[in-house]
Amino acid sequence: MTRPERIRRPGRLLVTGGAGFIGSAFVRDILGRRDGTEITVIDKLTYAGNRANLAAVEADPEQAARLQFVQADIADPAVVGPLVRTADAVVNFAAESHVDRSILDPEAFLRTGVIGVHVLLEACRAEAERARAGERAAAPRFVQVSTDEVYGSVDAGHSTESDVLAPRSPYSAAKAAGELLVQSYFVTYGLDVVTTRGSNTYGPYQHPEKLIPLFVTNALEDRPLPLYGDGMQRRDWLYVADHAGAVEWVMRHGTAGETYNVPGEAELPNREVVRRLLDRLGKPWSLVRQVEDRPGHDRRYAMDGSRLHALGWRNRVGFDEGLAATVDWFRANEAWWRAVKSDDWDAYYERQYGARLATSQAAAANDTA
Ligand code: NAD
Ligand code: TYD
Repeated sequence: MTRPERIRRPGRLLVTGGAGFIGSAFVRDILGRRDGTEITVIDKLTYAGNRANLAAVEADPEQAARLQFVQADIADPAVVGPLVRTADAVVNFAAESHVDRSILDPEAFLRTGVIGVHVLLEACRAEAERARAGERAAAPRFVQVSTDEVYGSVDAGHSTESDVLAPRSPYSAAKAAGELLVQSYFVTYGLDVVTTRGSNTYGPYQHPEKLIPLFVTNALEDRPLPLYGDGMQRRDWLYVADHAGAVEWVMRHGTAGETYNVPGEAELPNREVVRRLLDRLGKPWSLVRQVEDRPGHDRRYAMDGSRLHALGWRNRVGFDEGLAATVDWFRANEAWWRAVKSDDWDAYYERQYGARLATSQAAAANDTA
């Protein structure tokens, strides 16, 4: 079945946060298709942003010619305005993305997640005005990349898009605020917006502050793996190429004003994720240390994906296949993760894990399998 597309091909996309984990996968996938699409990335290059994530594109002359990289803050209207002027769609991946850092230092989460989103929306609103005045063919479409964490902890069942938002960390509260702002521009100004809520994502190029890359890289060095609390918290794991693909699908086919859950369809307790990655690495469970829990730790996330399925999207990569590819990528790309685990990494690690590891205990043998 052919579905109507909202974005012309080849088009021109403005991708914020395109030097981060998921944003760079989105950029690599689309430029790698060589269909003429042009992408401008705007990225502040925070500790999480990394030009090396786009190195493969920049080393390929045909793709590099269709990529423009602008190092800037999405909250800077002087930079954002002219870039939105030529964009068919604005895809907003930019965010502070790590729950633990949001607990240590929440402010940057609000600046990027609320003020930054506001600045992008205002630029889109100005372009929608120009479209109405006949000064451009169509208003830009705004794609907000959000998260299942806006639903808060879900004891049972699966969240649907109309469920109440109940975020419980500064990270998820900032993401929920950003989403609400986006929706308000749809209702108030008739902006063409769509929102995705992705689940826990993993894969190559993920910053090693997150569970899977932290544990894989620590295990490669035979360092302790700090498992929070009882390790029975449950997450739904989504491979990065599927997350990036779903965002593109929604950008092209989604109904204006609609929100789409993007589940991974691989719900597992953390202990089981750790067992499987250790198996793949051939490393022992004795590396796992049970450490003090994260404050306000959400016990479970789980979403219903019916709306996205009805739109025609299906994930392609199952968890074991994705985990194997991820583990193997980290094993083969030691220079990448060693560079990321430098600079202020040690200071962060000490702040987040120093006291926790000092008072840790051996994690009980894994019995979730
Ligand atoms: P990431 O931290 O790897 O990348 C974020 C990128 O945004 C970085 O390149 C950073 O430099 C950039 N950035 C941050 N603040 C900026 C600013 N003010 N201006 C411009 N650039 C800025 O994060 P990620 O894991 O790739 O997540 C991307 C998006 O997907 C985020 O919006 C996140 O909330 C959402 N999301 C992530 C997951 C996940 O599991 N990783 C799951 C669901 C949704
Ligand atoms: P994380 O990758 O930080 O993603 P999120 O908090 O957005 O779900 O964490 C995934 C799960 O792993 C979460 O339940 C917290 C847990 N976790 C640990 O047990 N130890 C760690 O060192 C980290 C980073 C996470």
